[in-house]
Amino acid sequence: MSSVKIGVLISGGGTNLQSLIDSINDGNINGEIVLVISDNKKAYGLKRAEKNGIDNMYINRLEYDSSDDYNEVIIEKMKEKKVELVVLAGYLKILNEKFVKKYQNKIINIHPSLIPSFCGKGYYGTKVHKACLDYGVKVTGATAHFVDKGTDTGPIILQRVVNIDNEDTVKSLKEKVLKVEHKILPEAVRLYCEGKIELKKQNNRFVTKIRRG
Ligand code: GRF
Repeated sequence: MSSVKIGVLISGGGTNLQSLIDSINDGNINGEIVLVISDNKKAYGLKRAEKNGIDNMYINRLEYDSSDDYNEVIIEKMKEKKVELVVLAGYLKILNEKFVKKYQNKIINIHPSLIPSFCGKGYYGTKVHKACLDYGVKVTGATAHFVDKGTDTGPIILQRVVNIDNEDTVKSLKEKVLKVEHKILPEAVRLYCEGKIELKKQNNRFVTKIRRG
């Protein structure tokens, strides 16, 4: 099977991008990151890409008249590199419907909670962990999922649980969840690149069936 060309969108530190780079370098994923795009010039993830010889660029949203134009230029860059799988690794902008349609069930996002809890509009970064602590839930975790036209509503691929202890803070919870993100994102991408994620429609919703082994 030829290796899958992967495009990664980031906005920040890029530790999830790094986990993907490391997993590919370890030979665990039949894929190649051919492009990293950031909407944030200062994103350390751009440096991580540079250090690993991966084409990377900052695209300034303010240079485009609309969100649709911004999405369009990202689609163009992805097409130029023949990207087959898009990974959102801490990317904070919403993809427009055209983007999601063009890469239907070919966009994987990592979210720092157990979807459908603590997700959707306004739930990103440390806001998610604060909401967990404020609510008093005893477990949280991370979810790797396909992106559909909603926010954090696409078919779930993998989830992993993190226990919340009495002394946990937003900072400690973020660190615990991030560790789990760094495991399930590469695993979800590996499964995708090996064609092991099937999608089935049930009760008017698409769900994944993972072929193991
Ligand atoms: C992670 O917590 C991820 O769940 C969320 O944004 C953060 C990105 O972190 N989507 P990093 O840039 O990968 O370090």
